[in-house]
Amino acid sequence: MSKPVKQIHLAAHFPGVNNTTVWSDPAAGSHIDFSSFVHLAQTAERAKFDFLFLAEGLRLREQNGEIYDLDVVGRPDTFTVLAALAAVTDRLGLAGTINSTFNEPYEVARQFASLDHLSAGRAAWNVVTSWDAFTGENFRRGGFLAQEDRYQRARQFLTAAWELFDSWRGDEIVADKENGVFLRDPNPGRFDHHVSEFDISGRFDVPRSPQGRPVIFQAGDSEAGREFAASAADAIFTRHGTLEAGRAFYADVKGRLSRYGRSHDELKILPGVTFVLGDTDADAQEKAQLIRRQQVSGQTAIRRLEQVWNRDLSAYDPDGRLPEVDPLVGEHTVARGWASVRMHRDPVAVAAEWRALAEAGNLSIRELVIETTGRQTFVGTPDQVAEKLNEFVQTDAADGFILAPHLTPGGLDEFADTVVPLLQERGVFRSEYEGETLRDHLGLAPVRRAAVAS
Ligand SMILES: Cc1cc2nc3c(=O)[nH]c(=O)nc-3n(C[C@H](O)[C@H](O)[C@H](O)COP(=O)(O)O)c2cc1C
Repeated sequence: MSKPVKQIHLAAHFPGVNNTTVWSDPAAGSHIDFSSFVHLAQTAERAKFDFLFLAEGLRLREQNGEIYDLDVVGRPDTFTVLAALAAVTDRLGLAGTINSTFNEPYEVARQFASLDHLSAGRAAWNVVTSWDAFTGENFRRGGFLAQEDRYQRARQFLTAAWELFDSWRGDEIVADKENGVFLRDPNPGRFDHHVSEFDISGRFDVPRSPQGRPVIFQAGDSEAGREFAASAADAIFTRHGTLEAGRAFYADVKGRLSRYGRSHDELKILPGVTFVLGDTDADAQEKAQLIRRQQVSGQTAIRRLEQVWNRDLSAYDPDGRLPEVDPLVGEHTVARGWASVRMHRDPVAVAAEWRALAEAGNLSIRELVIETTGRQTFVGTPDQVAEKLNEFVQTDAADGFILAPHLTPGGLDEFADTVVPLLQERGVFRSEYEGETLRDHLGLAPVRRAAVAS
């Protein structure tokens, strides 16, 4: 029997000012004006996307003690943005990244239940454990939780939030005007939750929302993160955006589901990806090169190098050769708050690899950084990109994509106008929304009560 054709899920990542965007392009707009959010959201909805996605940055990243202004310079608050977008969209899902390390379940559950009400069932929560002590200094709880503790807190946080969401069944409010009865059940919302991280009880004050619970996303990549996702998430936002890495990741996390009594389709794998479109393949490749050069200025190249080397390398010429000196191992003092720093877990090995690459290709610092960091995922004509996206999904490297355009806010327009119709023609992407809620768009069954892995 041949495999059924899978439908592709598509989402739009509001990119802001980031290392994937080009703020200096004449067509780039504000990353903070509401009109920019509206533009991207309405384009995504016009193209029948599943949802709009917001990442969360809780502290401005620094380099040599200064804010690094080619990176995310200020992201407005997730709930405020998503609530406002609920009012200017009808069907588009609204997904927000909110960490479980510095918040409390009661306030986060209230916020998501409220967003789910205001949007008529379109809310999603990307549960992340967030970064390091540097990020945590902003918060009253402050400081750093070791990785094991962060995931323990995340599991307990989500379980507590679920108890709050489920504390209302959904049929308590009758508002019977004739008989003067507002509540059928005088006792909704009760919760009582006592675990090592939370000792809370009371009544949850937001009645059951349209989806029951927001759709749950997860975005950590460690063993603990993957297990957390397999036990509890409806979707994963992943960085594994190549065919090979995507397939390996997909098989790995889907393989974990049966341990939790869950089926293959209950967890969607959605890599964050970029795209560059052109009239011809050569045109697209040329554009992609240009965008990479815009994204990695000489100054940016040195900064990216410093993130591996953990040394001030400002005296180096970006068009010159890599430093002979090795990275400083230990606590990172030069670049703070960066995901990429945390990913280079063995900086000396990374430096050796980069030196070998630079030598083999006779690359300058800037050329090497362009080569090794953040290559575009899908580059080609709309037809080529549609074909490639479909190949990823049909061969189980992904269930769909969270697209990060390189321009804010108009970077999705061309994709919506050219690639989406081609996917629709191929019968792998919807032409109209079929359901009302985000859960419907993602093909997820209605909420059933489940346990997070302990
Ligand atoms: C694709 C991806 C996106 C992430 N986005 C965010 C984010 O927007 N905000 C945040 O605080 N952490 C984000 N994280 C970080 C996670 O919160 C987590 O702290 C980090 O990945 C460490 O967990 P891990 O070791 O399981 O990967 C992201 C992680 C991944 C893999």
